[in-house]
Amino acid sequence: MTSARTARALAALEAHRIALEQQSIASLFDEDPRRFQRYHVQLDDLLFDYSKHRIDDIALAHLIELARSCDLEGKRKALFLGEKINSTEGRAVQHMALRNLSGRPVPIDGRDAMPDVLATRARVMTFAENVRSGALKGATGKPFTDIVNIGIGGSDLGPAMAARALSPFIQPGLRAHFVSNVDGADIADTLADLDLESTLFIISSKTFTTQETMTNAASARILVSQLLGEAAVGDHFAAVSTKLDLVAKFGIREDRVFGFWDWVGGRYSIWSSIGLALAIAIGPEHFEAFLLGGFDIDEHFQQAPIESNIPALMGLIGVYYRNVCGHGAHAVIPYDQRLARFPAYLQQLEMESNGKSVTRDGAPVTLATASVIWGEPGTNGQHAFFQLLHQGVDIIPVDFLVAAEPTAADAHHHGLLFANCLAQSEALMRGRSQAEVESILNLQGLSARDIAALAPHKVFPGNRPSTTLMYRALTPRNLGRLVALYEHKVFVQSVIWDINAFDQWGVELGKELCSRLAPIVMSKDAPTAGLDGSTAGLINYRRVVMANG
Ligand code: F6P
Repeated sequence: MTSARTARALAALEAHRIALEQQSIASLFDEDPRRFQRYHVQLDDLLFDYSKHRIDDIALAHLIELARSCDLEGKRKALFLGEKINSTEGRAVQHMALRNLSGRPVPIDGRDAMPDVLATRARVMTFAENVRSGALKGATGKPFTDIVNIGIGGSDLGPAMAARALSPFIQPGLRAHFVSNVDGADIADTLADLDLESTLFIISSKTFTTQETMTNAASARILVSQLLGEAAVGDHFAAVSTKLDLVAKFGIREDRVFGFWDWVGGRYSIWSSIGLALAIAIGPEHFEAFLLGGFDIDEHFQQAPIESNIPALMGLIGVYYRNVCGHGAHAVIPYDQRLARFPAYLQQLEMESNGKSVTRDGAPVTLATASVIWGEPGTNGQHAFFQLLHQGVDIIPVDFLVAAEPTAADAHHHGLLFANCLAQSEALMRGRSQAEVESILNLQGLSARDIAALAPHKVFPGNRPSTTLMYRALTPRNLGRLVALYEHKVFVQSVIWDINAFDQWGVELGKELCSRLAPIVMSKDAPTAGLDGSTAGLINYRRVVMANG
């Protein structure tokens, strides 16, 4: 239940929103030439600009009071102390231990988790180094050139996103591939051009029961044993899981199995052995730099006052739009082609974590929870969906992500990319009024009648908010920082909404129903009676299609 103090903070925000609506973001800049200076936080070579938001000092003060009313500071402490805040699964949440480079112990269940973390990481790094150097070879003596990670959700999106983001750091001659979908096209297309003799498969699954991953793993195993012989399986497979007994049953050699722990949620597992494919691709040194980036943010999140705490501000500003302004979507637009999978990664992180409708004690939530997260790289998005961002009826706050310096050694391209990023956030904020449009059309020599007809279509309402996150370059350390920023943003929002961000019961029903339906679907004539009319009708239609060839 929302406390009286929280309700007061929300009511104050609501009252202030109405006052703020009298002003545009652009006019806030006009009034305060130091607005950018006051509304950005710099953390080493990462810059968080939140000046283009519909907020002022009063709104921020109310948001900070909201955070304090929900005991954000106390809950942050509980998180880092390893308390079992994932109450429905009875688990601590300690993915931060995986990037804890402080030398400090991390108590979980009454003992320090760090010795196990460090020992497992050392094994991962040694294995990665041995694959990279060619010391480990396939069954026919060829060094590995292609690493195929088979996993889904958190066992895919993290390493897949990061391998793409950090492609300039991948060892020449090595390629990382990611197979996730149970659609056979995924594995078939991925393997089409690969030489299995030089391919290493990594089966990544926290539970080692996930249907998609197990199906793809079984197909890969059959292919390897058909082509190279059953004895070759041991040389061509490794696994990452918390269920070591199930991995052993699959037949993967013990020295190629890398564990992690139930206190690492799937969507927070990129820092664990789940990062194996990434560690092989970019190498131990870069992987450790990625961990260091996450650690930087853990330190910042724990130490910085809420007023200048980047994840706290990201979370609170998001809460303002979601709960006070009623905006239900949030776009993440990287002006960085290599971050193409980052929005998809964040979709799982934010929507699987905070897509909840009951509070921690099981009561219906009183506040709307996670927004719909979506996005695509700019500039491509500009030529696709930005029309809606600029002139659609919904206001969709945007996070722009952009590097300060080029990574492709191409200053010209990067200059244009950067200018486009700024132009979009400026256009969203500034808009173009009816009077401005009319004067432009007038200068173009249009008649009064044509101006009257055309002007409404060319008006941009503006006043649409955005954050810009700028990093010097897309290095492993900066990628680690970006990922950890969003992780803690999700935590902050879960505290305000009083929900458990670390379970995901909503994915279970579909899995259960699929287990029931799969045998019926795969049979030619199993009865469909008892199924709903649509499900039965679709199965029967498919049977007819298949029967007719
Ligand atoms: O179905 C959701 C989910 O459980 C995610 O939370 C998880 O990241 C994904 O499936 C994969 O699970 P696993 O690593 O156990 O195969």
